[in-house]
Amino acid sequence: MGKILVTGGAGYIGSHTVRMLVDKGLEPIVIDTLEYGHREAILNPETELVVGNLGDTDLLGRIFEYHDIDAVIHFAAYASVGESMSEPEKYYQNNISAPLNLLSVMRKYGCKTFIFSSTCATYGNPQYAPLDELHPQNPINPYGMSKYMLELILKDYERAYDFKYAFLRYFNASGASPDGLIGEDHNPETHLIPLILDAIQGDRSHITIFGTDYPTQDGTCVRDYIHVNDLATAHLAALDYIKTKNESVVCNLGTGVGVSVKEMIAMAEEVTGKKVPLQYGERRPGDPPFLFANPAQAKSILGWEASYKDVREIIKHAWAWKTGIKSGKFLQ
Ligand code: UFG
Repeated sequence: MGKILVTGGAGYIGSHTVRMLVDKGLEPIVIDTLEYGHREAILNPETELVVGNLGDTDLLGRIFEYHDIDAVIHFAAYASVGESMSEPEKYYQNNISAPLNLLSVMRKYGCKTFIFSSTCATYGNPQYAPLDELHPQNPINPYGMSKYMLELILKDYERAYDFKYAFLRYFNASGASPDGLIGEDHNPETHLIPLILDAIQGDRSHITIFGTDYPTQDGTCVRDYIHVNDLATAHLAALDYIKTKNESVVCNLGTGVGVSVKEMIAMAEEVTGKKVPLQYGERRPGDPPFLFANPAQAKSILGWEASYKDVREIIKHAWAWKTGIKSGKFLQ
């Protein structure tokens, strides 16, 4: 196989996938703006990092001209639901316009394999759970809509230009590499597990539980937390599938296990042996009460399933990353 262009490869999920590609003897090239990504998250010093934007046609052209690129794994995107509500244009520019440019350059150079980091946010409010891939897609925020629109565009690229795609619809990406070398480091941080661990560590005063009157087991929102390394292995499986079968594939990536916010807090206390300082707040606008996957299709088509089904292991790795030598932060 030729090389694999990984967009957003210095980001959270991208960097874990790049590491795994290298471990499997594949050759990734990373393009990342480093706006949210971290140079140090690319562990292999021989992996080429191109700092730049997917909207830069000349830069992309030079990458494809110079390297024999066989497939693209596309992570680069803005991914904050709340921000997408107030700044939709930013999301449509970065999550649709820039990858459209990439698709055009791919087409020019005859590269037709696209592994796409999609999301359960493309489903919108769940009509049933667990969610399978046939659940209607009605995104309720510009972030989810931007991912859905790129899925639609890719379907046309398949029909008209014979592209093959994998739509990997993640549930809640979480955890860190089990050896603690790379992990989650967003600024600002909005995700539940790092916020809980920050509160335990005293890096923030408390965590606020957003809503306690949801129709769930304990009134708090239920989500499906999937280990970042499991997400990474799914990308490799999808790449292998497209290359061997020459077929596109759509898969939900989750564990199938729903965990409530209160359950998460209790398990974080159990894993760390420390109390979580907490407050109760209003519902956060746009939060569906429950979201968890039916991951059967990923198993039957890709032979993939989550290896970390107990969320305590996810918390354990996130905690090790946070309290490790880097104190949970990359250098830049
Ligand atoms: N939560 C709190 N307090 C906080 C932060 C989060 O109670 O301070 C709750 C949220 O209400 C939610 C759960 O914890 O119920 C998880 O929240 P996250 O912000 O960690 O994750 P989301 O489920 O909102 O978002 C994730 C991904 C998005 C994706 C979305 C799909 O981060 O990229 O799932 O719904 F779009």
